[in-house]
Amino acid sequence: MRILVTGGAGFIGSNFLNLFVARYPEHHFINLDKLTYAANLLNLTEIENLPNYTFVQGDLTDRPLLDQVFDRFQPDRMVHFAAESHVDRSISEPGAFIYTNILGTFHLLEICKKNWQESNGKFREGTLLHHVSTDEVYGSLGAEGLFTEDSRYDPSSPYSASKASGDHLVRSYFRTYGLPVLITNCSNNYGPYQFPEKLIPLMILHALEGKPLPVYGKGENVRDWLYVEDHCEAIWTVMEKGILGETYNIGGNYERKNIELVHTICDLLGAELNRDPQEFKDLIVFTRDRPGHDLRYAIDSSKMMKLGWQPRETFTTGLQKTVQWYLNHRPWVESVQSGAYQNWMKQQYDEKIIK
Ligand code: NAD
Ligand code: TYD
Repeated sequence: MRILVTGGAGFIGSNFLNLFVARYPEHHFINLDKLTYAANLLNLTEIENLPNYTFVQGDLTDRPLLDQVFDRFQPDRMVHFAAESHVDRSISEPGAFIYTNILGTFHLLEICKKNWQESNGKFREGTLLHHVSTDEVYGSLGAEGLFTEDSRYDPSSPYSASKASGDHLVRSYFRTYGLPVLITNCSNNYGPYQFPEKLIPLMILHALEGKPLPVYGKGENVRDWLYVEDHCEAIWTVMEKGILGETYNIGGNYERKNIELVHTICDLLGAELNRDPQEFKDLIVFTRDRPGHDLRYAIDSSKMMKLGWQPRETFTTGLQKTVQWYLNHRPWVESVQSGAYQNWMKQQYDEKIIK
């Protein structure tokens, strides 16, 4: 197979490529990525020289480039990770989210339709667009209940609304044209190579640098956490066994309040560095809440598990591996702490921290 991966230099896409390029030498993987602030080619050093891997820098909305990529590589599958992915950025600067997550997805659907549809209107055997999405499209849960594949779409942020729009477009191309698609909606991921604007790496790196640990509101919001490689394995399982046109929810079955999670990170850092965890806990500050902040996400993964998938990593082992990874990869950390990132974080502090 020739598999076009979009956004493969970001967090989840690079974990996906690191796992599967090496595991499946018989498949050719093409990584199309714009290289935004969230991307890092250092994520891919393990596989960059393998003969079944090719990198193309480019924007999803660049139709002439998409034509060139299809003409040259003739991909028969696509795994679509590329997105603007950070809720806080979507609140302060939503434009890029509309552009990439909606318009970009539309361009991919069009290029797949153009290249994979045969003269009789049917789609070439074996072609597939796998759209990677989020549980945030379902909005917020109260204290009880789980998101299922039938939950109503009710997004709260420009990020989740743009992802919801992408999901609707993908589903519409299945229903209207019969384009072979699959959609997965996953809970919060964590693990190596996550850009440190997201909760877990941000807390680890701030604690190491003695900076404030900003917990939004009262830290009561609940997220369901899944180790990134378990998400990648789930995507591969759905591509092999999923029913075309269907949606599969993927979750870690590990719900934690943000404040509890931050305490656990402090405990793990204390144990790894032989220091008193209280030193890190003293850095916690409660900041003004995120506008539209969803209270709780939790996933019913039973449909996914019927395909034979289940998470391999427990949260305890996964979080410990993640903390160790950030401690042992200083060059990577320094590479992402560029000027653009520093400016963004400074702006976040000026706006949010209650002094
Ligand atoms: P990320 O922000 O780390 O990476 C996104 C990648 O997409 C970057 O490499 C970036 O350069 C690329 N990109 C952005 N705009 C582009 C464009 N116009 N053209 C080409 N490439 C572009 O994101 P992530 O955390 O790896 O998330 C990947 C996907 O998984 C997203 O679709 C996201 O919605 C979804 N998802 C993420 C999580 C999570 O916890 N991170 C959970 C569920 C679903
Ligand atoms: P985040 O990692 O941004 O993921 P998402 O918003 O997609 O769930 O945030 C996870 C949770 O942590 C969310 O409830 C917001 C909260 N949060 C903080 O309390 N402080 C922070 O500095 C960040 C980045 C997030």
